[in-house]
Amino acid sequence: MLIKNLKITNFRNIESAEFLFSPHINIIGGNNAQGKTNLMEAIAVCIERSFRTSRVSALLNTTTNAPCQISLSFTVNPHPDKENILTFKTDGVKIQRTVNDIPYKEGIKLYPQLKTIVFIPEDLYIVKGDPENRRELTDDTAHMMNKQHRSICADYLRALKQKNTFIASLQGARPDSAQKLQLSIWNESLAKAGVNVICGRRKYFYTLSKYAAEFYSQLNKNNENLKMEYKSSVISEEDFESAEPERLLNLYLDRLERAEGNEIAAGHTLVGVHRDDVEFFINGRPAKDFGSQGQVRSIAVALRLAQARMFGEKWGEYPVIILDDVLSELDEARREFILKHTVKSQVFITGCNRNDFAKIANAKWWEAELGRFSEVNE
Ligand SMILES: Nc1ncnc2c1ncn2[C@@H]1O[C@H](COP(=O)(O)OP(=O)(O)OP(=O)(O)O)[C@@H](O)[C@H]1O
Ligand SMILES: [Mg+2]
Repeated sequence: MLIKNLKITNFRNIESAEFLFSPHINIIGGNNAQGKTNLMEAIAVCIERSFRTSRVSALLNTTTNAPCQISLSFTVNPHPDKENILTFKTDGVKIQRTVNDIPYKEGIKLYPQLKTIVFIPEDLYIVKGDPENRRELTDDTAHMMNKQHRSICADYLRALKQKNTFIASLQGARPDSAQKLQLSIWNESLAKAGVNVICGRRKYFYTLSKYAAEFYSQLNKNNENLKMEYKSSVISEEDFESAEPERLLNLYLDRLERAEGNEIAAGHTLVGVHRDDVEFFINGRPAKDFGSQGQVRSIAVALRLAQARMFGEKWGEYPVIILDDVLSELDEARREFILKHTVKSQVFITGCNRNDFAKIANAKWWEAELGRFSEVNE
């Protein structure tokens, strides 16, 4: 997809701004705290969702609380001349989004090519941070390939919450037969939803890890290899490979039943896809424990490039790439590697240091200052 025009009203510190973007590279420079990331977030929010917050109220300007509107015009293949309009509105509570005046849910079916891949400094936490970051990677990838995946995850989280409330009400006591029956009902709905989540994640995990490994070894001139493993707290790798779908449900239920005593004592659900993790190995050694800063950066870069490639292959069109404040964190070789592998995408780059972008040719350029953006013609 390509974004042509963008209009923002009352998004965080941006009161009003309008842009006509380049189909290739767009650079937003400026000092700290001027609105560069806010602008990137506005694009992401309009197309999909924020990479910074799940709180809708945080998107409004904190002083005025005025309603926010973002609209952008975009084109997709095979009709590069047809401009479409994507609109995002919020009052801080509800979000209203339309594509060509039809609700977003319907619109995204017509335009599945709408997608941003965002590189942010926090990507480093994917390898070394909490498992939540790695589950988000697998869910984000699955959702990118199958737009149902997030609602499948939401079903799971709903079932988990209900079961946890029930277990907490037992207060560590042994359940009577009626409570046991109730627990088995919760387990059944949790297991059904859990199997859907794990199948969704694993379906795309193999390609994600294969492409990430390819990018990683190219980035490191084939001197190192990256391997990724999906670690499930419920269904082992071997069982997953060999089991039929119905058997996965039985395996899942069996695992929940075995954990029952411990879960009642703990007061919450101890096993399930909400506890799954991904492990990264560089030349066979766990990157979480042994990876250097540079190696961890390379993994983060390889993962995002792998996602962009998967998306490009699936939809025949490359996603919009946002590089928020990451180029200055990378050395020359990694910087060039990213720019070389994202040429098929429209790219947005932010950063404080002009020297980081000095060598980038054919880019449009803006300077951010207190939520305003002026185009620089050099
Ligand atoms: N909801 C909001 N309402 C008003 N101002 C906000 C809101 N959210 C963030 N800001 C402010 O907007 C300013 C710009 O933030 P932003 O994260 O875009 O900065 P930046 O230009 O990316 O800076 P850096 O180079 O440090 O990353 C900051 O001063 C921030 O506190
Ligand atoms: Mg920023």
